[in-house]
Amino acid sequence: MKLLSPSFVQLCHQLSDLQFHDGTALGQSLKMTRTAIWKYIKKLQGYGVEVECVKGKGYRLHRPLYLLNSDVISNVLIKQTQQHAEIVLFESLPSTNHYLHHEGETTTKVALAEHQSQGRGRFARAWHSPFGQNIYMSIRYLIEKDPSELGGLSLSIGVSLCQALEKWIPLKTPLSLKWPNDILFDAKKLAGILIEMRAEAHNACLLTIGIGLNVNMDSPRDEAIQQPWISLKQITQQEQNRNLFVGELAAAILTGLVRFETQGFQAFIDEWEKRDYLKDQSIQVQSGRYVYKGTGAGVDLLGQLVLIDEQQERRTFAAGESSLLK
Ligand code: BTN
Repeated sequence: MKLLSPSFVQLCHQLSDLQFHDGTALGQSLKMTRTAIWKYIKKLQGYGVEVECVKGKGYRLHRPLYLLNSDVISNVLIKQTQQHAEIVLFESLPSTNHYLHHEGETTTKVALAEHQSQGRGRFARAWHSPFGQNIYMSIRYLIEKDPSELGGLSLSIGVSLCQALEKWIPLKTPLSLKWPNDILFDAKKLAGILIEMRAEAHNACLLTIGIGLNVNMDSPRDEAIQQPWISLKQITQQEQNRNLFVGELAAAILTGLVRFETQGFQAFIDEWEKRDYLKDQSIQVQSGRYVYKGTGAGVDLLGQLVLIDEQQERRTFAAGESSLLK
């Protein structure tokens, strides 16, 4: 588990003009030795970042690498939520969700990483987490509700995330939500949400909400992602500076959690319906060992997926995996 060091962030910032910088000049401006600079360059290359090294000229990046900056993120968080949440930035760790969920604390905390070596998705799938390209964020929050009252929570988080993204990134068509909480653009996955929970004493539940958002990823190596996906860079045709909106995303989720805590899923259902990817479509739902086919008929107030099956029977699902039938 390595925390993100400010000098590493500054080095990447300086190299993000995509010009050659020689080791001595970089060392002088960052008050580091040439050897320390060289070690950082090796580290970047170890993470798979392309850095050109030319004798007599120095080092050059091939694409900008603006790493996460905790001051920028916490300023936005405080401004938007009026509450202080601890923020921790990692250069690399196995999984931000695993870290927060097993830290043994219950305070509100945001963990972000530039790289995850064992990023996890739903159904124990791997979440591809290349260095410096996307957002890998987890938020820990102690919600004052019994686990039985959390139906619709994961859908609400999806809604909060879509609203924040649509506010910050100009999109020609709105985002859609595939039950329970995949965020899609043009039928391709842009973001995924993984919620882990633990019941605590006194009608409270400890939540760890993990968000994986594809930001600047172009093409993952070795076909690491097994489903159609898209990134904000591909949608907007521009490299995105994650610092400009990651604080807004965290703030939107924290604000949404408070809203869910006080008003429940009914405060989100209209916004969900506007983005429901499965509504009126031929779909299938895998729930446990069984696969059900039929027509998507929205969600109920518990956040359960409603399906009208081939015998015109109404079925509801509290958990499972959904997809469109081809
Ligand atoms: C999904 O399967 O759609 C959910 C993906 C969630 C990935 C995020 S990345 C940050 C956090 N840490 C993890 O290991 N997983 C979540």
